[in-house]
Amino acid sequence: MIKQEVIEQVRMQTDIVQLIGGYVPLKKAGRYYKGLCPFHSERTPSFHVNQERQTYHCFGCGTGGTAINFVMVTEKLEFPEAVKFLAKKLGITVETEQVSGRNQGLYDVCDQVCLFFEQQLPKTPAATAYVEKRGLSAETVRRFRLGFAPAGNMLRGQAKRRNWSEDLLVLAGLLNKRDDGLIDWFHGRLMFPIFSLSGKVIAFSGRVLDDSEPKYLNSPETALFRKGDNLYGVFQAKGYIREQTPILVEGNLDMLSLVDAGINNVVAPLGTALTPVQAQLLRRYNTRITVCFDGDNAGRKAGRRGIEILLGAGLEPQIALLPDGSDPDSYVRESGKEKLLELLAKWQDWVEFVLAGRDLTRVAEQRAALAELVGLLRLIGDDTTRELYANRIADRFRVNKTTLLRSAGQQKPGVPKTVVTRGVEEKLLGSAIQSRELARIARDLGLAETLLDEKLRPIARLVVDHCDDAGFNTGLVLGLLDDEETRKLVSAWTFDDVPTPAEFQERVRRFRADWLLRRLKEADAKGDDAAVENLQKERSELLQEVARERSARHEE
Ligand code: UTP
Ligand code: MN
Repeated sequence: MIKQEVIEQVRMQTDIVQLIGGYVPLKKAGRYYKGLCPFHSERTPSFHVNQERQTYHCFGCGTGGTAINFVMVTEKLEFPEAVKFLAKKLGITVETEQVSGRNQGLYDVCDQVCLFFEQQLPKTPAATAYVEKRGLSAETVRRFRLGFAPAGNMLRGQAKRRNWSEDLLVLAGLLNKRDDGLIDWFHGRLMFPIFSLSGKVIAFSGRVLDDSEPKYLNSPETALFRKGDNLYGVFQAKGYIREQTPILVEGNLDMLSLVDAGINNVVAPLGTALTPVQAQLLRRYNTRITVCFDGDNAGRKAGRRGIEILLGAGLEPQIALLPDGSDPDSYVRESGKEKLLELLAKWQDWVEFVLAGRDLTRVAEQRAALAELVGLLRLIGDDTTRELYANRIADRFRVNKTTLLRSAGQQKPGVPKTVVTRGVEEKLLGSAIQSRELARIARDLGLAETLLDEKLRPIARLVVDHCDDAGFNTGLVLGLLDDEETRKLVSAWTFDDVPTPAEFQERVRRFRADWLLRRLKEADAKGDDAAVENLQKERSELLQEVARERSARHEE
């Protein structure tokens, strides 16, 4: 781990204008710098750099972040490598340290438990028999650290004997705290550890050995793990998917069977429908992706949903459907590697996939298909790519290219439209993170608890936790975010106009007053008179405060 001080130093000393200026010509425009976005093609500059906040944001494609994020994307580096890259330019020596702070305990406990599960596997005949039945090689079992979680709260017993911290096991999602005490989270399951990008165990996925339900159980969300943010197998695949088009399969066992067959460029989405975060993760390695799902109806539907997410993340999806009734695992085991590779090579691009099986002899059906394709075209952020596909679609339907492009060009994702419709919650939080003074106002008036929008709440929590830090501002908060979607949002805020503290205070108070009114109505409906009275009192005090401040300002 790189020392936190070094990361801070790199953050403070890098000049983002100079850095980005080395990649894209930037021109000063008012308080900001502007240029053509290096991440999508455009003719008028919507890529903004904010020197004061040390951030960038493209109002065309929505991407944004700090200097470190910029280097990660342009140089295709992981976070620590990006820090080293910038440190080298600044002449800073990068010191590393063993302990990485508060999460280290969780990583350690996950690793110990993983080892424990690994050791249980050979001791459990039913589990080894199952592994054998599924045809998994010893090499794959070792590389993916497969294990077995015994039934009967064996992990809890092991923790007692070995003096492992029960608190940490609970936080890691491995023990479950119930009213009647602690119990194991996993009972009698074949265990597939889930690895972080750097190969640390962060969670598990456990499969039953028979056909009872639920077939798979995942770890709950923990400080290390969010299901929709991770892909199964990406750590083992990452060395391959830069060079080879990644193959997306549905199941853990599909992934492992392909690896057994010598196909290593495979990842699986951990049982959720593919999420934007997962797609962005893949985008770091490759712009193409082959979706290989079952040929049945469910597989087609999942493929169709996947296309939207993948296009939206700037990937070019291609689809290889298996014959109805087989999945990648059964197909490769029954028909062999060569047959599967042949099938993968015969992929359809997303346009062909959407058109497949439609009766396009009728105009009504043509119109429906075109409308669907135009909807998908709109998700493509890159102008050239969008135009190329628009050309193909126009040719295919013999319609006018310009008309098609015009209808697809409207409402591109991330164009200021989203900024205009930004909700009041987002505006308030966007102001709150502009400076320490505003952040403290937000904290003191309890803005975080009044937010309904779930994606905003973690950001609000960061504001509360960090508003006393030196140099607190949007750029600093941005540096603390590792989720791409959130970063896009926050990097745009760095270009907002900053209200005065008095204006801001009034807005937050009014917002809180509305929130109190909603709660008041709820309490009233429940007949909770005491709560009604308290809420009423707080609300009228708040509104009086607003009125007082107003008249004070008037007199000035
Ligand atoms: P599959 O049912 O295709 O599982 O679900 P699989 O990996 O091919 O396993 P086998 O071949 O039936 O043994 C695909 C993925 O969906 C998630 C798992 O991540 C699984 O790998 N899943 C499935 C769950 O999370 N819970 C379930 O109950 C079932
Ligand atoms: Mn399967």
